[in-house]
Amino acid sequence: MSKQTPALKIENLVKRYKDGFQALNGISFNVKQGDFYALLGPNGAGKSTTIGIICSLVNKTSGNVEIFGYNIDSDFAKAKRLIGLVPQEFNFNSFEPIFEIVKNQAGYYGITPNIAKGKAEETLNILGLWEKRKNTPRELSGGMKRRLMIARALIHDPQLLILDEPTAGVDIEIRRSMWELLQKLNDDGRTIILTTHYLEEAEYLCRNIGIINDGNIIIDTSLRDFLDQLKKETFILYLKDSISSPPVINDADIVVYDEKTLEVTPKEQQTLEKIFLQFAQLDIEILSMRNKSNRLEELFMNLVKK
Ligand SMILES: Nc1ncnc2c1ncn2[C@@H]1O[C@H](COP(=O)(O)OP(=O)(O)O)[C@@H](O)[C@H]1O
Ligand SMILES: [Mg+2]
Repeated sequence: MSKQTPALKIENLVKRYKDGFQALNGISFNVKQGDFYALLGPNGAGKSTTIGIICSLVNKTSGNVEIFGYNIDSDFAKAKRLIGLVPQEFNFNSFEPIFEIVKNQAGYYGITPNIAKGKAEETLNILGLWEKRKNTPRELSGGMKRRLMIARALIHDPQLLILDEPTAGVDIEIRRSMWELLQKLNDDGRTIILTTHYLEEAEYLCRNIGIINDGNIIIDTSLRDFLDQLKKETFILYLKDSISSPPVINDADIVVYDEKTLEVTPKEQQTLEKIFLQFAQLDIEILSMRNKSNRLEELFMNLVKK
């Protein structure tokens, strides 16, 4: 396999569910070998649908998916072998001992029981779960359960690790330790793709990002370019009360539409948070906002709500 072959290649992927709902409208994007890629988008955007198709758990309506050059239809077994999936929901048997859960997973990949035992031990050690090997998932903390999901996904040494919202609803400490772990796994040369609705998570971990919204990829670029682009966005703010004169905000250009509507363009180096803080200090309450180009509207709404 040449270094140029992408770890993941998606072309014109369409998914229409049985009820007629079209969740993916012909998306295309590539993930390079060794990359750390975030598929970022609000709830219902199509992230899990995309992951499901990549992992052959969901049937696609049309389009092509290749894993390290192997087509998921014509080279199903080879493609599948290269992927480790950490699904969004816990889905292990709560009464089975940790060691068995990880070891038995190896069976699905044709790994012989003896080798599986050794692999399970190695993987549980890496994930810091060896001490808990005789316990059942019910006896693990939330963070340990997440690590168990990762241990199980790594048992067959996949080149591509895919995690579907690995830190959704997880407290900040566990999130940090998960981030460190994922970074280590990526440093070892594994390609990692994760889905998230936290911009912060993508920002911390990833080199490249795709933003998905309503079944369309609206951005596919490096994290650095994306953040640069964000800085140049222009926002429309809707105010609660009328203002008599334009507010003076540091490092932002303000255009007044009417007494309750402003256009704000942050200058280089300025962050939205700091701009909002200045509005708050001036006692100007912002009812809602959208970005002028409309492309990222939903995403920003989610970010602003936090
Ligand atoms: N089995 C299904 N049948 C019909 N619609 C579905 C099904 N699964 C998901 N959807 C819809 O497809 C859209 C994308 O869902 P999903 O891929 O789970 O989004 P995300 O993971 O980004 O939150 C949503 O509108 C969801 O309601
Ligand atoms: Mg999802």
